[in-house]
Amino acid sequence: ETVDWEPEDTGKGGYDHYMLKEIHEQPQALRQCLQERVDELSGAIDLGDDLQQTVRGAEFIQLVACGTSYHAALYAAQLFRSQGVPAQAFVASEYVTAPPPYSEDTLVIGITQSGETADTLSALREAQRRGVETLAVTNVVGSTASRECADALYIRSGPEIGVAATKTFSAQVVAANLVAAVLEDRGTHHDFASALRDLPSQVQEVLDETNAETVAERFVDSEAFFFIGRGYDYPVALEGALKMKEITYEHAEGFAAGELKHGPLALVTSETPVFAVVTGETGSKKTVGNVKEVEARSAPVVAVTDGRTDVGRYADEVLEVPETDSRLAPVLANVQLQLVSYYVAERLGRNIDKPRNLAKSVTVE
Ligand code: AGP
Repeated sequence: ETVDWEPEDTGKGGYDHYMLKEIHEQPQALRQCLQERVDELSGAIDLGDDLQQTVRGAEFIQLVACGTSYHAALYAAQLFRSQGVPAQAFVASEYVTAPPPYSEDTLVIGITQSGETADTLSALREAQRRGVETLAVTNVVGSTASRECADALYIRSGPEIGVAATKTFSAQVVAANLVAAVLEDRGTHHDFASALRDLPSQVQEVLDETNAETVAERFVDSEAFFFIGRGYDYPVALEGALKMKEITYEHAEGFAAGELKHGPLALVTSETPVFAVVTGETGSKKTVGNVKEVEARSAPVVAVTDGRTDVGRYADEVLEVPETDSRLAPVLANVQLQLVSYYVAERLGRNIDKPRNLAKSVTVE
């Protein structure tokens, strides 16, 4: 079963591509995701009694997803672990191939924009077959995942037409932060609630002030593009690379910053820019050390940073993001990387909204 959204039905609203339109829709998408879930005054986070009960009853969380949604799952797993709940993200197809052990109190969360991805559905069915509780985090009301799982949390991004997932990744991460806040179970979360409330306008600030087009122009002829990050910045490095390869057809790889020296550093040359995502507090200083290693190999460095470290000193270009809670800053960094990929693909004349060989919803295993 597939979900049919006709691109012609919605229109590009003055943008050259749906992808660019959807990148620009992110502030609105995030507002919709937060609406009535975060109380402006008290900071209380409310996802509804049923869902909260399910989430709070979980002793272990396993996340299953593919592609961009898998990167959101990696991010979510780290958020949940920070609340003391053992959590692990799995590529859905691998989960089915080698299912991990379950306990009675395991919750399996499927993250899927479309709710129709065959690999993710089959991982969720594997969990259900074993009698494990399942939750779908999805964009599409009435999708197969939302119908088959015991609970659903909607990310409310509106239709995403471009094959490249953009606004839905940001909303998945915000939704994961809401779930993590519920796990924390402290009732109110003033500082965090105000950081969440400010996030849409900070995304707008990035969109208004970005120099991504200049960065894309400078590096469009590169041999390859590498992305590094640590902690919450790590899934963003992976996502930056996936977006780049998906819409530009150029070689791009994302690495955990600490892994660079364990092999990938051999690939780094003066023709391979390294995008270093350095935000928040999760070991940023160490990533700055990794950036220095890259610089010593004369690779151009693009720092995507909130300015909490001096990484900018070692960078050839800086993509700035406003400072926020460490758990949210990588969302802003990701918006910069979406834009860089978009402008590189545009310069190369790629079929941005429908890249070769790819489908919006992959309904075969
Ligand atoms: C993202 O840009 C990709 N098109 C792809 O990786 C996608 O995220 C993946 O196929 C999962 O789709 P889903 O979220 O609809 O399950």
